[in-house]
Amino acid sequence: MKKTVRAHTNIALIKYWGKADQAMRLPAMSSISMTLDEFYTDTKISDSEKDRFILNGTEQTGKSAQRVFSYLRFLQERFGLSGHLQVESTNHVPTAAGLASSSSAFAALAGAFSSYYDLQINRQELSCLARMGSGSACRSVFGGFAMWQKGNSDLTSYAYAINEQPEMDLHLLAVELNPNPKELSSTNGMQLAKTSPFFQPWLERNQAEIDKMIEAIEQNDFTALGQLAELNANEMHAVNLTAQPGFTYFEPDTIRAIKLVEQLRREGIECYYTIDAGPNVKVMTRLKNVKEITKRFISEFDNVKIVNASFGPGIKYLD
Ligand code: PMV
Repeated sequence: MKKTVRAHTNIALIKYWGKADQAMRLPAMSSISMTLDEFYTDTKISDSEKDRFILNGTEQTGKSAQRVFSYLRFLQERFGLSGHLQVESTNHVPTAAGLASSSSAFAALAGAFSSYYDLQINRQELSCLARMGSGSACRSVFGGFAMWQKGNSDLTSYAYAINEQPEMDLHLLAVELNPNPKELSSTNGMQLAKTSPFFQPWLERNQAEIDKMIEAIEQNDFTALGQLAELNANEMHAVNLTAQPGFTYFEPDTIRAIKLVEQLRREGIECYYTIDAGPNVKVMTRLKNVKEITKRFISEFDNVKIVNASFGPGIKYLD
């Protein structure tokens, strides 16, 4: 039986930023993402005398291990299973890229669990299980462009593929400006965001933004996709700034990176940014501009690290 499962990280173009139901991890809005080729997690589950979580060759204790074990208990309970398990994961997500690994980590873990017990579930059901580990993980079950429909119950909140083999000339430069771990977790950030007077108006825009993004994808329209992804990211960060109390993940270098993207655009180099729950910036562009943009970031920032990614596949069973 195939037991090692590979899942790739995804980046939201229309963000998930707020829960409608905390316990079930139901989102307040639908979201759309791009799965990335350069970043992934391999995970294998095997029998064990006690619960063990080994990440990149090192046994984990503390919070990250607890999160994995409680997720496994939840899955076991759901399927009437029990017993200790060993989880071995390798993260090919350069922490250096400033990308969260939770989407690939929990998608791979859900996949490894289903493979270990030979659950015979389809990708929609797997997406629901991954969602319970970390919301954004439900989108990593699919490659290319994926959509997470918010739904209103456990069984109706899952992701599906919009297009797993897109032809769009779209590259995402993961620009690491600041390697420090974020101070505010996305769970806490999301909860605070709901206190913003702009949260509700933002939610009301969600369906229209989803429709527009799907249209941009279907029409292979990079400009429309980039403009809308940038707007949506700015809406998320505007909601954070106006929460009660307000907060931001931006650092001074985040603003400098935004200004550089704007400057590049003025020069006719088409690119757009998106920013998640941290200070780092992702730049979307076409292949022909990757070199020039990379060069400009390197000349503008000390110690910047840049990874050029494009579309990645959905979950894969490796051995
Ligand atoms: O899946 P979580 O709980 O780590 O939240 C992800 C939140 C964002 O990355 C900021 C947005 C998203 O849709 O991925």
